[in-house]
Amino acid sequence: MDGRRPVPLAPCWWLLLVLGLGGCAHQAGPTLAPELSYLGRDPEQPKNMQYRVRDLTFTVFPGVFQPAPDSLALLRHTRIRRGETVLDIGTGAGVQAVFAARTARRVVATDINPAAVENARYNARRLGLAEKIGVRQGDLFSPIGPQERFDVILFNIEYPNSDADQALWDVHERFFAQVKRHLKPGGRIYYQFGFQRNMARLHDMLARNDLRIVAQFEDPAIVPGEAYITCEIQPAPPDRR
Ligand SMILES: C[S@@+](CC[C@H](N)C(=O)[O-])C[C@H]1O[C@@H](n2cnc3c(N)ncnc32)[C@H](O)[C@@H]1O
Repeated sequence: MDGRRPVPLAPCWWLLLVLGLGGCAHQAGPTLAPELSYLGRDPEQPKNMQYRVRDLTFTVFPGVFQPAPDSLALLRHTRIRRGETVLDIGTGAGVQAVFAARTARRVVATDINPAAVENARYNARRLGLAEKIGVRQGDLFSPIGPQERFDVILFNIEYPNSDADQALWDVHERFFAQVKRHLKPGGRIYYQFGFQRNMARLHDMLARNDLRIVAQFEDPAIVPGEAYITCEIQPAPPDRR
């Protein structure tokens, strides 16, 4: 994802926020910066980093994506009702899964990276939500049984920078081709995919899979002039197909 490769020291997006670039982009909403701060190395395990996300402290293991402003964009627009079931694909350190588990009845979180799976389990345990969160390793829906369905599916993984980023587009294509099989009737998807320039390709992927955007949100991005786009998506009603 843009500027999101794991780095050994303080993350580069954080430097941009300190320089004041976080709030000077699109003015669709308040900057995400106050909800996210880098706390430094874990004093007990200095190989790990610590982040404050809203009122919670998350540990981030080496080789795992750090929570970033686009994580906050998804978090801000996700609505989970009490008792719902949630699937968080590409959970990273488990930020979406942990916040979802405060309201949801049950959360399944997946990641292709074994280090992220261990990391999300660690944060779920340390934040007292391990009983509600099951973390599984694998590509997209491969760790999900054919009969498993959820009220809400969360998706914030690396997104393409341009049309040339075909490998990443393919991951998003595969997600949309499979997602309806794992949604309960009336279920919804919250999808964070970066910038406005990806919008035409998104509309195309949705149309080919009988999905539609029911709400769209924009938040100031750390890249000046850009906004993070988050969409709430549902299957299109039969008469709109
Ligand atoms: C940019 S991080 C975002 C983490 C988290 N969703 C958030 O909002 O903070 C993307 C995560 O998706 C995972 N990922 C990438 N490709 C994946 C795939 N095909 N299946 C499952 N997880 C994947 C990465 O390992 C990484 O942990």
